[in-house]
Amino acid sequence: MPAPGSPPSAAHRLEGRVAVVTGSANGIGRAIAERFAAEGAQVVVADIDETAARNVAATLGPQALALRVDIADPASVAALAEAVGARYGRCEILVNNAAILDSAGVDAMSFPHYRSVLDINQDGAVRVTLALLPLIRRAGEGRRILNVTSIQGVRGSRDSLAYATAKGALVNFTRALACDLGAEGITVNALAPGFIDTRMAQLPDGSGHEHETEWFRDIYIRYGRIPLRRAGQPADIAGPAFFLCSDDARYMTGQIVLVDGGVSATF
Ligand SMILES: NC(=O)c1ccc[n+]([C@@H]2O[C@H](COP(=O)([O-])OP(=O)(O)OC[C@H]3O[C@@H](n4cnc5c(N)ncnc54)[C@H](O)[C@@H]3O)[C@@H](O)[C@H]2O)c1
Repeated sequence: MPAPGSPPSAAHRLEGRVAVVTGSANGIGRAIAERFAAEGAQVVVADIDETAARNVAATLGPQALALRVDIADPASVAALAEAVGARYGRCEILVNNAAILDSAGVDAMSFPHYRSVLDINQDGAVRVTLALLPLIRRAGEGRRILNVTSIQGVRGSRDSLAYATAKGALVNFTRALACDLGAEGITVNALAPGFIDTRMAQLPDGSGHEHETEWFRDIYIRYGRIPLRRAGQPADIAGPAFFLCSDDARYMTGQIVLVDGGVSATF
């Protein structure tokens, strides 16, 4: 039985492709980086947490590279593009995954707070895409951009004003960019995860994971708001991420793929 996260059969379907995955020192991004590396990609683990990024890259093998980037900082993003260009001269795959959680609703929101969340979760993905686009254009077959949004980007929810606004913007950024880049054969898609068991899902008081609480079990599992009756694991997102960045998804672009255990299918 393969360990959770290990691919069913890694067939090196991304052999020779350079894949930059932002926020891949932890959680979903890490699982995507691991899956891509298992498929033969040369993965750039790009994260604000440099130590964690180095540790992850070390587990991926000599093909992987760790680079520190703060996607909210234009100079840092420019340095990322320069470093990727210097090392590989091109980039086939970009996954815009890095983000922070913000649980402020309207009454707790100030405009500077709102802007600070958008600067990372919305503008960060745009910034990285614009910086890496020349390297993506220089690449050969299988050029892919994948944005990680959220079910909160396609549905409203309480206490998520800036986070949900940013994730909603990424949904239409995906569609608009797909229209711009389609003629060049570069596909742009998005994944919208549901409840995934990462540190982002930790309770604000540090007492554990949201998924372990009684209310979560009641609403989402017992009453079936998650039809598959469990929170997702990062590897549950890595598989669809791999598919969207593989040759099999060559005729898909501008699509938002919900990977949420069925949450969005219920009411
Ligand atoms: N966990 C969930 O339930 C869930 C649900 C829907 C969507 N998502 C989305 O999935 C993505 C990954 O989230 P996760 O759950 O793995 O979270 P996580 O906190 O485990 O990982 C996020 C990573 O992004 C990095 N990061 C944060 N700010 C950064 C910055 N300014 N520059 C560069 N890197 C930065 C962090 O260091 C971390 O390694 C995010 O876009 C998140 O919004 C998560």
